[in-house]
Amino acid sequence: MSRDPLNIVILTGAGVSAESGLATFRGPDGLWEGCRVEDVCTPEALERDPEMVHRFYDARRAALLTVEPNAAHHALARLQRAWRDEGRGEWLLVTQNVDDLHERGGAVDVLHMHGELLSALCAACGDRHRWSGPMGDDPPCPSCASRRLRPDIVFFGEMPYHMDRIQMALQHCDLFVSIGTSGAVYPAAGFVQTARHYGAQTLELNLDPSAGSIWFHASRMGPAGRLVPLWVDELLAVA
Ligand code: OAD
Repeated sequence: MSRDPLNIVILTGAGVSAESGLATFRGPDGLWEGCRVEDVCTPEALERDPEMVHRFYDARRAALLTVEPNAAHHALARLQRAWRDEGRGEWLLVTQNVDDLHERGGAVDVLHMHGELLSALCAACGDRHRWSGPMGDDPPCPSCASRRLRPDIVFFGEMPYHMDRIQMALQHCDLFVSIGTSGAVYPAAGFVQTARHYGAQTLELNLDPSAGSIWFHASRMGPAGRLVPLWVDELLAVA
């Protein structure tokens, strides 16, 4: 008997990488040299104090190279493989995270709506380069040699990446699942309302209720490393 296709959009946030050892943004360890992230991750901060902004991202890039994907990343990759290999429906994994742990856990075609730590964007020529070292020492752009490389990160006040593709998927999905995000930052915080408006079922998996918890049809609270593999097993058994 053939199944009805189930189109899925997954949104992840910092909570999905917390058990790998990466700090979340709004947790107790979420401050940077006494500043809120909202004050560090802005174009104005980069203009005013580039050294501080580079220190922030250089430290995060260095930390990323020391951690590994956890059970939640692996489970989502397993679900994606099942969806692709067995033609179960459309699939989109959108992350607000700038780490590469979904990819290292086996996921492909991940949309990084807030950019990527391991990418450098040249403010002079616009080229992007894979980047795993520091940027604070003003290295030259490999394309144009100007010393205006910046982290390829969407700062507060800048337009997130891939919004057209994300909006389209939200309008056509049957199931929207939000994992490990506080729901404090738009537009991602509004995805649940868009998906619901177009008829999707919505589920939240998070350690604590997020700011938009009331918008979800169902919420499950607990660590992603435990909740996500359980939910994936459940979905693979019924869908
Ligand atoms: P936050 O730090 O705002 O929220 C992390 C969420 O993860 C919280 O709701 C926690 O309860 C939850 N959490 C913590 N540990 C968890 C665990 N083990 N399992 C499951 N959930 C857990 O991070 P985001 O919502 O991702 O933007 O933040 C959104 C954006 O704000 C980020 O992408 C970043 C930041 O400024 C940019 O860098 C542009």
